[in-house]
Amino acid sequence: MSQPVTSEFTDFVTGKLALVEEELARQAGADTPFVTEAANHIISAGGKRFRPLLVVICSQLGGQVSDRDLVRAAVVMELTHVASLYHDDVMDEATLRRGAESANQRWGNSVAIMVGDFLFARASETVAKLGTDFVELQAQTFARLVQGQIAETRGPLDGEDPLQHYLDVVADKTGSLIAAAAVFGGMVAGLPAETLQVLRRFGEEIGQVFQLADDLLDITSTRTGKTPGIDLREGVATLPVLLLRASADPADEPVKELLDADLSSDEALGRALAALRSSHVMDEARADIRARAERARAELSCLPGGPATDALAELCDEVVSRSS
Ligand code: IPE
Ligand code: IPE
Ligand code: MG
Ligand code: MG
Repeated sequence: MSQPVTSEFTDFVTGKLALVEEELARQAGADTPFVTEAANHIISAGGKRFRPLLVVICSQLGGQVSDRDLVRAAVVMELTHVASLYHDDVMDEATLRRGAESANQRWGNSVAIMVGDFLFARASETVAKLGTDFVELQAQTFARLVQGQIAETRGPLDGEDPLQHYLDVVADKTGSLIAAAAVFGGMVAGLPAETLQVLRRFGEEIGQVFQLADDLLDITSTRTGKTPGIDLREGVATLPVLLLRASADPADEPVKELLDADLSSDEALGRALAALRSSHVMDEARADIRARAERARAELSCLPGGPATDALAELCDEVVSRSS
């Protein structure tokens, strides 16, 4: 049975995340003011810092960890994530990111792509200082992430189940990096291979929940710092839409028609979003997210009891409550 997370542990985590912030700002520094500004643009716009948080929490499952390695591991994960966001916003033609103008919107696609590459190079430099095990995992993770992004862009193959395709994309584009963050935390703490496997499985599960919840927020929320409904407009079918498309109930036909319409105008997108929000598939998607979060939580029974494990259990609740 998990306990509420103590304020002492929360303060400890907050302190480490402040060190991570300082290092992130340093890493965005480039040879010219323009590249520094463009690289710092999305980093300083904020974000939840979920991956650094996971690194810090998981690093506390063992004994003492040096601040230097802990900060490096967390920074590598956040820089890899932010680099992928610069590229993702080009792919998704997004105009808003973290409540700010996206880099592609502000400076064009070429700059956004190159700045993403710059940040990835910074992450590579830092991960090299942690050792080859870390380099290998980061490289494998990024290869999976980009393949997930490519698979999403290409869509399901003929005869492939669209829902399974979507879930595989979610696992690859998001589960992979969040799992790596959990494992990086365990690796800096020198945890044994079996524990790293538990962290990997936990990270995969919670990472998928995280993306499914984010996809639901694209439909329900106007407070994400991103443009609501962008997945619908870009034709990226997420869980509720896939559940709707799989439904044979004639009562679902009007909603399907609204989703299939040309959604380039704000009015059409607004109508499609409103219809989807009041559809039964939203509750079904939420139930699926809750069930997956419980699967993530079940992995924690293999970890030692204590504040870090309690904090991981709390994350399971938080990821679900974001989308409900
Ligand atoms: C956005 O990630 C992309 C997804 C994987 C859903 P986050 O939701 O972690 O974005 P930030 O870092 O808080 O901006
Ligand atoms: C982002 O996926 C995943 C990666 C950046 C790898 P999305 O395109 O669904 O995320 P948002 O909604 O733009 O943050
Ligand atoms: Mg996107
Ligand atoms: Mg995308």
